[in-house]
Formats: sequence, structure tokens, C-alpha cells
Amino acid sequence: MIIANVGSGSYIALSKKCPHQGTSVEYRPDNNDFRCPNHGSEFATSGAVTKSPATSGLTVFKAVLSTDKNTLTVSS
Ligand code: FES
Repeated sequence: MIIANVGSGSYIALSKKCPHQGTSVEYRPDNNDFRCPNHGSEFATSGAVTKSPATSGLTVFKAVLSTDKNTLTVSS
């Protein structure tokens, strides 16, 4: 799983394993998206594929920050 702080106290959690061949994807804050360093697949923060060779997206999990901002709860 990969968790990214997308600003304004918001976090997103997605599966980290690239659906193409299993390499770990990386968050790119400047683009606010995810990229696989192996063959260059790219994914939106929604998990959708935006650049092949991956043909399926990343799984998105629910990420909720507590009101005191001390605990991030991630669930499916
Ligand atoms: S393993 Fe991610 S693009 Fe190939």
C-alpha cells in the first residue's frame, strides 16, 4: 500500500503494486499522480491508468484522518 499526502490535510491510499508486472509505484507530488519506475505506467489519484503498459488500475482504499489529525485510518 502507498499513502500520499495530497495537501490540505487530505490523504489517499492505493495499492502499491503495479498491475503490469508488480513493481512498486511511486507518488509524484508535482504531478499529483503515481508512476511505475519499471516501464513507465502512470496512474491518477483515482487509481485509473493514464499511461500504459498497465491495463488495469490501482486499488483505492479509504483513508480518513482523525479530527485531532493524529491518526490516519485506512480501510477497504
Ligand atoms: S511493472 Fe509497472 S509498468 Fe511494468
